[in-house]
Amino acid sequence: MTAAACYADRAWHGAVAVVENVRLARDTYRVRFECPELARRIVPGQFVMLRLAGQNDPLLGRPLALYDVVLDADGTPRDVDLVYLVMGKLTGKLSHFVPGQLLEVWGPLGNGFAPRAAEHLIMVAGGIGQTPFLALAKEYLGRQRYGESARPAAPGGRVTFCYGTRSRDYLAGLDDFKQAGVELRVSTDDGSAGHHGLVTDLLKQCLEENATRRHACGVVCCGPEPMMAAVAEMTRQARVPCQVSLETPMACGIGICFSCVARVRDDAGGWDYRRTCVEGPVFDARAVAFD
Ligand SMILES: Cc1cc2nc3c(=O)[nH]c(=O)nc-3n(C[C@H](O)[C@H](O)[C@H](O)COP(=O)(O)OP(=O)(O)OC[C@H]3O[C@@H](n4cnc5c(N)ncnc54)[C@H](O)[C@@H]3O)c2cc1C
Ligand code: FES
Repeated sequence: MTAAACYADRAWHGAVAVVENVRLARDTYRVRFECPELARRIVPGQFVMLRLAGQNDPLLGRPLALYDVVLDADGTPRDVDLVYLVMGKLTGKLSHFVPGQLLEVWGPLGNGFAPRAAEHLIMVAGGIGQTPFLALAKEYLGRQRYGESARPAAPGGRVTFCYGTRSRDYLAGLDDFKQAGVELRVSTDDGSAGHHGLVTDLLKQCLEENATRRHACGVVCCGPEPMMAAVAEMTRQARVPCQVSLETPMACGIGICFSCVARVRDDAGGWDYRRTCVEGPVFDARAVAFD
């Protein structure tokens, strides 16, 4: 289990104004809101719960991962960026929001990614599972610091991003990742961009290329559950440490309702339910019971 300090009772809760809401790709948008309280505390892999202020439909908040923190002219964290795929009620309505409209937000929530000593970070994302990885890559490569007690960058670190989507229309934020210094490898199910096939093919290739340097590699993964299960198995066989960020549906986001539980193995070989919102969403891939 990763150990970044975050407790739901320390979460900030309030209304924030939308600064920007721009389309990045098919059905995919980046919303930016001003919230220095959140911006200075949130770390890669953490998330916020979001509601549309003053609206009761949908009633429950929805979890969205940190995409990035925007600094003001003095270098002070000011805005928070989230990237979302239009799935249902909240994201559908949010896609029509314009600057000045209000959102209700609480966070930062969850544990976030553990900082790792690995020299080579391999990020594997399926679809909208890419959202937690921009901030992680920037932190890893020493481009930006996140959180109140800044975590160390990986000196001389290298980041490869294996990113798979259904088709090229859904590829979002490629320029953000390139500007951050990330090596990008893309796959699409229909072959319209990059490798024609699964994102796990890209990971396989990456692990083969690094066959003699696996001790220096670490993998992080987020996306559809079958893909995360496959990545967990591949990294287990390759003996490369892997963290997965689960996207379990959530109702409260703060540990009260138990709607977000996942089966996680314990050290004694048994398993128990863990709340993804407070004990996750990031788990050691070997501990998650995907079957
Ligand atoms: C920690 C965490 C971080 C997340 N980060 C992001 C993010 O950065 N960007 C993003 O776009 N989404 C993210 N999600 C997923 C997002 O919260 C859901 O897709 C959310 O339900 C969308 O709300 P909605 O009201 O638009 O759709 P809803 O009306 O809630 O749901 C639409 C459809 O999606 C299904 N559904 C809901 N949640 C999930 C899920 N987790 N997995 C599979 N199917 C689901 C529902 O059953 C329904 O069929 C994250 C989820 C978690 C737990
Ligand atoms: S969402 Fe309520 S306990 Fe996790």
